[in-house]
Amino acid sequence: MPVSARRSLARAQCVAIGSALPEQRLTNADLARLVDTNDEWIVSRTGIRERRICAPGQGLSSLALPAAQQCLERAGVSASELDGIIVATISGDQIMPSTANLLQHQLGAGRAFAYDMANACNGFVAALSTAACFIEAGRAKRILVVGGDVMSSLVDYSDRNTCILFGDGCGALLLEAGPADGPGLVGFALRSDGSGGGELCIPSSGSALRPSPATLAAGMQYVKQNGRHVFTQAIRRMAEVCNELLGELGLTTADIDLLVPHQANLRIIEPTAQRLGLPMERVVVNIERVGNTTAGTIPLALADAWTDGRLTDGTRVLVVAFGGGLTWGASYLTWGRG
Ligand code: COA
Repeated sequence: MPVSARRSLARAQCVAIGSALPEQRLTNADLARLVDTNDEWIVSRTGIRERRICAPGQGLSSLALPAAQQCLERAGVSASELDGIIVATISGDQIMPSTANLLQHQLGAGRAFAYDMANACNGFVAALSTAACFIEAGRAKRILVVGGDVMSSLVDYSDRNTCILFGDGCGALLLEAGPADGPGLVGFALRSDGSGGGELCIPSSGSALRPSPATLAAGMQYVKQNGRHVFTQAIRRMAEVCNELLGELGLTTADIDLLVPHQANLRIIEPTAQRLGLPMERVVVNIERVGNTTAGTIPLALADAWTDGRLTDGTRVLVVAFGGGLTWGASYLTWGRG
């Protein structure tokens, strides 16, 4: 279902971005001391050199708060002006209360509704699209969209198939109502295929397979994946949904200044860009330093692009993600206030 905002009264402007990473670095050399792997294998197969890892007991809110504060400061907006906070994550501090609720309190966003959205690696694209709908419908003026994960709490550091990929990090983007013909989120497309759920999952993470000594001994509380299947599906689906969205909006790759893809593997990002006919100079890549932070990858990459001057007012951006569900999506936006 591609959705564009062409008939709405307002457009959701992407006003500012903030980000936060934990201090501790986990390098490939560190991982080689935990499992049978090496720097050369990890870099050549994934493009990742290091990732950041939270200290034990450090929850997502410890990253979401500084990311949100930085975003609001850059936007010149106070927390009391927020109508809503949506946090995309699969690793919030707790299932209840939501991390969005914790953030609402910590920020002092007294008027804001707050809830979490779990859509794995596609979480930020899903949350951004949902928040934009509130604004386009005139139901909210300002929504803080946060994406982040503490994947170190969900990764088995004795499993070399998964532990090399993931890291922790969080970003926050402020959406603000603006004129319908101005810059902002122009359209999005969200897709899913639940038949592939078992290919990338955390078996014991909810009501179905409850934690027991047996599930814990088998490591069922950690990410499991069919790496090859996820790899091929990610390339195929991300390119496909980008082309569908561009077609729906009547755009071509000439209308993209920056592609901001989910950072799962450099060997997924490069062929996706190639299928879209985009040179790597127009693609934001930071996986080398941060790995796959699940719902955090796209806001972290946007924040890096803003910091290095590639993302400025008027930059036309296509964001795209793929992850557990299976679920994937893309959004097309023009950065800044009108
Ligand atoms: N270090 C060294 N060797 C490793 C290794 C590691 N960390 N992990 C796996 N291997 C081994 C395998 O055991 C296998 O050995 P074998 O041939 O003796 O059985 C060999 O390397 C090749 O494994 P394979 O799984 O075919 O490698 P690959 O090229 O597919 O790369 C991934 C593996 C996980 C990097 C890749 O499949 C991938 O990125 N998949 C997508 C995962 C993902 O992005 N998940 C999150 C999505 S949001």
